[in-house]
Amino acid sequence: MFTRFRRRRLSPALRDLLQETHLSTDDFIYPLFIRSGEGIRNEVASMPGVYQLSIDEAIRECEELKHLGLKAVILFGIPDVKDSVGSDALCEHGIIASALRALKSAHPDLFIITDLCFCEYTDHGHCGILDPVLETVDNDATLVNLGRQAVIHAKAGADMIAPSGMMDGMITAIREALDGAGYEHLPIMSYSTKFASAWYGPFRDVAESAPSFGDRRSYQMNPANRREAILESLEDEKEGADILMVKPGLAYLDILRDIREASRLPLAVYNVSGEYSMLKMAAKAGVIDYERVMMETLLGFKRAGADLIISYHAKEAAALLK
Ligand code: PBG
Ligand code: ZN
Repeated sequence: MFTRFRRRRLSPALRDLLQETHLSTDDFIYPLFIRSGEGIRNEVASMPGVYQLSIDEAIRECEELKHLGLKAVILFGIPDVKDSVGSDALCEHGIIASALRALKSAHPDLFIITDLCFCEYTDHGHCGILDPVLETVDNDATLVNLGRQAVIHAKAGADMIAPSGMMDGMITAIREALDGAGYEHLPIMSYSTKFASAWYGPFRDVAESAPSFGDRRSYQMNPANRREAILESLEDEKEGADILMVKPGLAYLDILRDIREASRLPLAVYNVSGEYSMLKMAAKAGVIDYERVMMETLLGFKRAGADLIISYHAKEAAALLK
């Protein structure tokens, strides 16, 4: 006696009827990198198909995204000037505040999320203000600035705030700042479980945000830790995060599943730069069927428990899903 699983695999129609997990354009958030200037569309060598865009080009890009059926973007900024505190991010005329106003007026129907962190804006490339004694980020001083940055994004029209700096207490601080400024309705998607990962390498080329000394291991998580990964996300849930996140994706699908089971909140995964570049480079080398490997990867995130997928593949995936 044995089971004939193959009875259910013979007909393509029955295979479709029995498919447990589906990808949809509704699942995707597409990252955009914004810099000042006009008519700028700089492709980044380590991430083919990913560009640093000036605001006018970003407006055009969003038109294309909407045609593809995509509904949400997450913005990263590349400021003209960096300093020790990341002043550009604390200014109403900074790159992200300016981009938000322009994008929201051109595309009021597009859902615009902002990455909330300081590594792109500081001259030392760390995710907040430095503590000179500890030689790493000063947690509580940075919380104050995260609150200020969140209110600037809110005023400029952000639809959701996504803090990525892995500061302790960041959700409490940002929630209080937003509520205090009359933005009780604005959701927070926390990068709640974020690992200190080598997979962010290409992103730091695009965002020009590599730390000038040391690394991020005193604030981002040790890739070896599973229990701590769950605690991190549950803490952000307690502090009032509306959506949780695991980042990176591919090497952390077990964590995605763990958090899916530990929390009832919606869960996002960040399919990070190195994961994207790896497939692109393998495709260029002719060693994989890029489209199939991409769709299988994205489906894997959904199956593991992700409701939302932040991915540089979003445009290509949306075109295939259409
Ligand atoms: C900023 C931030 C990073 C990423 C998203 N937000 C970089 C980092 O933490 O070094 C990585 C995204 C990617 O690799 O695609 N804190
Ligand atoms: Zn950062």
